[in-house]
Amino acid sequence: MSSQLAIAKEDLNKYGFLNIDVDPTLDLVAEIERLKKEKNAIILAHYYQESEIQDIADYIGDSLGLSQKAAETDAEIIVFAGVHFMAETAKMLSPEKKVLLPDLKAGCSLADSCPPHLFRKFKEKYPDHVVISYINCTAELKTLTDICCTSSNAVHVVNSVPKDKGIIFAPDKNLGAYLIKETGRDMILWNGTCMVHEIFSHEKITKLMLRHPDAKFIAHPECEAHLLEKADFIGSTSGLLRFTQEDPAEKFIVATEAGILHQMELKSPNKTFIPAPPNNTCACNDCPHMKRNTMEKLYLAMEHELPEIHLDDWIIEQGVASIDRMLEISAAAGL
Ligand code: 13P
Ligand code: SF4
Repeated sequence: MSSQLAIAKEDLNKYGFLNIDVDPTLDLVAEIERLKKEKNAIILAHYYQESEIQDIADYIGDSLGLSQKAAETDAEIIVFAGVHFMAETAKMLSPEKKVLLPDLKAGCSLADSCPPHLFRKFKEKYPDHVVISYINCTAELKTLTDICCTSSNAVHVVNSVPKDKGIIFAPDKNLGAYLIKETGRDMILWNGTCMVHEIFSHEKITKLMLRHPDAKFIAHPECEAHLLEKADFIGSTSGLLRFTQEDPAEKFIVATEAGILHQMELKSPNKTFIPAPPNNTCACNDCPHMKRNTMEKLYLAMEHELPEIHLDDWIIEQGVASIDRMLEISAAAGL
């Protein structure tokens, strides 16, 4: 083993990734393709990944599609181009497989907003309630959850709970408020948010809508209620993508992480997509966690099979039922 690799392995926890120089002349696309074949590995990428990573992935999707793929793949190694909770979900669904995440520090503000020890105490106040957790939560939180959901299937999951049962919904209060409106169910909400979807600028979006009266405004349900009220369509990332393909409009203002625009532009090359701007000096909204993954880190993770996701057996045993239940409800709904 080279001394640089040995040091990088020792420093893995410090950096979250293998901090090794990559030869800038290396053809990373060709190298990653070679490693996929040699190692029987599959790359699963979320729509919020940078375009180059989306282009080399075997499957690109939203949180629901990615969990369905992780449950059914026969590859030996799952390389997750996404964030930590997504790779944990893949490990829970396929515990016998090696699951790699190019950067362990690719976290999620929603998952961080709901520490399991605090949630356990909160849950004790409502002992008869069913707990529905957005899949954007830690593996440990899933052990305290009855049913997981994603933005694609959340309405179906909430409607699957008998009407006489109370519901706690965690951790996203914006998605929770949207679901209360959509389903008419009165749910107890945990007070968490996504840092990306809560900083859209109402003022700048209103100006954009005035400047582009022919554009449809479409938004992810993690956005705040005042924005969702303005939206022509609300949906998960895959729902938004589908809408832009099927709707006759030729211009869309898109309020979610800007990575999704890559697939929208590929699928509808003649349409115009305008990223909704956040409340800062940026023109579009990037998730800093999703964007920690790079082609170099992806290549290094596959070459050295590190960093790998490890979970305690009790977490897998007690947490996977909430994901299995979600997948059953989705399959019954034809999602
Ligand atoms: P979906 O993948 O369900 O659209 O959720 C978006 C998201 O924020 C993932 O982190
Ligand atoms: Fe988490 Fe929001 Fe980033 Fe998705 S976009 S990973 S919910 S911080």
